[in-house]
Amino acid sequence: MSARDLSSVIAGKRLVVCVGSGGVGKTTTAAAIALQAAISGRKVLVLTIDPARRLANSLGLSRFGNDELRIDLSSLPEARGELWAMMLDNQKTFDDLIKQIAPDPARRDAILNNRIYRATADNISGSQDYMATEKLHDVVIGGRYDLVVLDTPPVKNALDFLEAPGRLARFLDKRVMKWFLEPYDKERVLSRLLSGTSAVVFRLLSHVFGSEFLDDLSEYFNHFRDLYDGFRERQEAVEKMFFDQGATSFLVVCAPNGPSLEVAAFFLDELAARRMPNPGVIVNQRHVARGGELSADGVLGAAAAAQSADLDPATARSLLARLGAAHRRLRELAAHEDQLVDGVRGHMRPGQLLWSVPRLPDEVHDLRGLAAVGGALFGAPRG
Ligand SMILES: Nc1ncnc2c1ncn2[C@@H]1O[C@H](COP(=O)(O)OP(=O)(O)O)[C@@H](O)[C@H]1O
Ligand SMILES: [Mg+2]
Repeated sequence: MSARDLSSVIAGKRLVVCVGSGGVGKTTTAAAIALQAAISGRKVLVLTIDPARRLANSLGLSRFGNDELRIDLSSLPEARGELWAMMLDNQKTFDDLIKQIAPDPARRDAILNNRIYRATADNISGSQDYMATEKLHDVVIGGRYDLVVLDTPPVKNALDFLEAPGRLARFLDKRVMKWFLEPYDKERVLSRLLSGTSAVVFRLLSHVFGSEFLDDLSEYFNHFRDLYDGFRERQEAVEKMFFDQGATSFLVVCAPNGPSLEVAAFFLDELAARRMPNPGVIVNQRHVARGGELSADGVLGAAAAAQSADLDPATARSLLARLGAAHRRLRELAAHEDQLVDGVRGHMRPGQLLWSVPRLPDEVHDLRGLAAVGGALFGAPRG
């Protein structure tokens, strides 16, 4: 396997997507990659979903909402580009979208105030994935940034996210929308709802919620009729970008433990099956043990003797023995992780790379921590 560092892999890319199971460091890695790209001179946006609170606070991201915020990099004088960050807020993305694409202010307000819209916009299954896609279209295809790094939510079904754009495009095209939208006038929408097997349900609903409910419902679908071509076009554009080898890289992020590596192997296989661009895997939080079989005496030698000069010799010996034992345990742990990581290599395709990031002594909660993670990723590659 050729040893290429991550910077050459993402050079020239416009979208990097970090995927993997929860808690492994996807958000951290996404932010660290974005920071390195910004340091090297690019204008970068990290689009994140659920940053750990300490990291969000230290980056000034404590406000929710869909604002793109510029991160202050003045503590890193070597940074030549710009780092921007944004947290995805579903309801607000949906609202912004309606505002952007509604044909006139009356239509816009009618949708935003529609009770069905208010009740469903945040609850449609997978709406976070769809909204991420809308936002992606806005920020990547909109061209305001050289590079967008997308953090993904911890997905229950790991494929939800990858399939969201295509699925929504198909859904809008063929299913619910079409069924509701073919009869464009309100009477015919209502008559559809009020006939057949759904009639009883809808009569009951109108009895419970009042006939306004049915008005709202037909109004809702009618408004969306005008919007759905736009939805579909953007979802398809993002889907196309997901497959564009020149523009996009999916990076599988994992930690060196069984369950996370299983999800990583699954992603490697699925991305390959879909022919989506996947240069490789990042194994984060690895334990690193240097040296072979060590004797604390041998390594620390005279220093140990000097440091323990005022200790009773038995205590000094026992401390050194415990140091040696701790190092042996760390070596065993690292060797065990190596074995686990070898398992995931079996799922890698020719040309794919594996990058390792050591587990740092503290959690990664500020620019310095991100720069340390980025240094491991963008420095000399390590297996
Ligand atoms: N290399 C690392 N060393 C030490 N702590 C890390 C490292 N990578 C991530 N963390 C910490 O692990 C926790 C989970 O990371 P996060 O990026 O939020 O995971 P995810 O987005 O995959 O759920 C955070 O507290 C983060 O600071
Ligand atoms: Mg996260």
